[in-house]
Amino acid sequence: MTNHEVLPLLGQVADSVSQAIAHARPELAGADPLVRRSEHADFQSNAALALAKRARTKPAELADALTAAVAGDRGPITHVEVSGPGFLNITVPDQLIWNQLAARLASPRLGVGAPNEGQRTVIDYSAPNIAKEMHVGHLRTTIIGDSLARVLGFLGADVIRQNHLGDWGTQFGMLIQYLNEHPEATWHHDELEQGTSAVSALDELYRAARAQFDADPDFADRSRQRVVALQSGDPDTIARWKEIVAESEKAFRDIYDRLGVLLTPEDSVGESFYNHLLSDVVTELTEAGIAVESEDALVIFSEEVNGPDGNPAPLMVRKRDGGYGYDTTDLATIRYRIHDLKANRLLYVTDSRQALHFQMIFEAASRAGWLTDSIEAAHVPYGTVLGPDGRPFKTRSGGTVRLMDLLDDAVARARAVVREKDPDLPAEELNEIAEQAGIGAVKYADLSSSRIKDYVFDVDRMVSFNGNTGVYLQYAHTRIRSILRKAGDLEVAIDQTIALQPAERALALELDAYSSALTDVSETLEPHKLCGYLYDLARDFTNFYEACHVLGAEEPIRSNRLALCQLTARTLQHGLGVLGISAPERM
Ligand code: ARG
Repeated sequence: MTNHEVLPLLGQVADSVSQAIAHARPELAGADPLVRRSEHADFQSNAALALAKRARTKPAELADALTAAVAGDRGPITHVEVSGPGFLNITVPDQLIWNQLAARLASPRLGVGAPNEGQRTVIDYSAPNIAKEMHVGHLRTTIIGDSLARVLGFLGADVIRQNHLGDWGTQFGMLIQYLNEHPEATWHHDELEQGTSAVSALDELYRAARAQFDADPDFADRSRQRVVALQSGDPDTIARWKEIVAESEKAFRDIYDRLGVLLTPEDSVGESFYNHLLSDVVTELTEAGIAVESEDALVIFSEEVNGPDGNPAPLMVRKRDGGYGYDTTDLATIRYRIHDLKANRLLYVTDSRQALHFQMIFEAASRAGWLTDSIEAAHVPYGTVLGPDGRPFKTRSGGTVRLMDLLDDAVARARAVVREKDPDLPAEELNEIAEQAGIGAVKYADLSSSRIKDYVFDVDRMVSFNGNTGVYLQYAHTRIRSILRKAGDLEVAIDQTIALQPAERALALELDAYSSALTDVSETLEPHKLCGYLYDLARDFTNFYEACHVLGAEEPIRSNRLALCQLTARTLQHGLGVLGISAPERM
């Protein structure tokens, strides 16, 4: 097995057309060759149409000139036909297509290179709040962030995951005081009955504390003193706080384990971690004249963003009471990630309502000179999860939907559809497959809808065997595995002299484009592009399998087709894998 990168044919063809452009019209050298896949040929270039004006000629004439230039070149193109007003319809030789497939099959990385090598990428994702139930919004950041971590890591980036837990703030003073005064309250993991988590118990206790805080001025006073004790590091108070954090993290961990995400306890670097850095950050920003006094608070006025009153929007660096909040902590995260973690790519995966917050954080970091042109900082926003009524997803009584319940529900429904399809599955296998299908369905539904858009959480659609669903792709993968098992799971050799049938060709060119689908995700940070690619691939496979016999074909055609099956199965499995979704052998 070799580990060489296999350049996609699309890129090779684009290079050829670029050379032809530079050769035929030196003044146009460097122009975009505008090559894409086409239904009329293997590839199509629109360069002649786009560049004719600049070349002071007609598109058809430029197209002819480019065709002639390509003919003189020993690149990957065998045939060019000018169509319509000047499209170049490009065909590559069958042998070259087989050669690409053989090289990808021989590579443990499917011929995908490592273009992100040298990038140190911090991905801030998941970030639930301590003593609070994780909600569906946290589901999105967790799933999207995790798949970005996998894709970018596979492409060679050095990925540092950061789980920015909401583990600090004055609300903990109130909660700790309440717990101290109610030793009978149960909220530890071990004391709770199955199905209730420490965070849901704490969430309720917090509500009770809040109610007492509002109703009972003496309790409010004691809570405020507790905040002071927490901030000044009083050992008993800190011990209590640590206990609350640890119990909450256990509950989060249950969800992470079930979802199969990469986050580990070492990735938990919550708001409290930045405490000891805040005063330095504030001093630096003040001395640089970026943070200024305003109405007894310290703020940074944006030069880009205006608030609702039309005046420059402020970041709150230090509140009037001297306290630091969410803004200050995020100023510290960006400084820390650049200076200490030495990252050159910073991604913050949070819902789209935080867009202005991050725009202002990035602006301040640039003004402070931390964020320079060689560093990319991006907010990776996503839309809201909606209920069947088209409103933000809530329980019937209007509460937050518990993630565990939601996953249980998806797994139960997946079990029903899998059992219907294969009633003879032994119970244990059924359970395992249902878990993979149900969890995969939830993740895929989230990843496959355009990231920035809202989507409706519809479990029945998610676990359907039809349409662009995780279950459909998992099933497509199992069908190919079953063909390969029947063939004896042999290593096959490709005969590169065989002519490709149209359905084989379409599948082969799609397989060859896998690395582009991955780099597309890296550039746009949109995992749904990879989902779309995998869905197209599965459909190309279906078309191929309907049009071509595989097991019943004569050699050497049979081996070539088995090779197509193998590469499709591996690409589907790998693609699902970097989405964080498992691909069972059977369903
Ligand atoms: N804990 C926050 C929330 O639940 C998300 C934190 C996102 N990360 C950050 N660096 N601000 O909304």
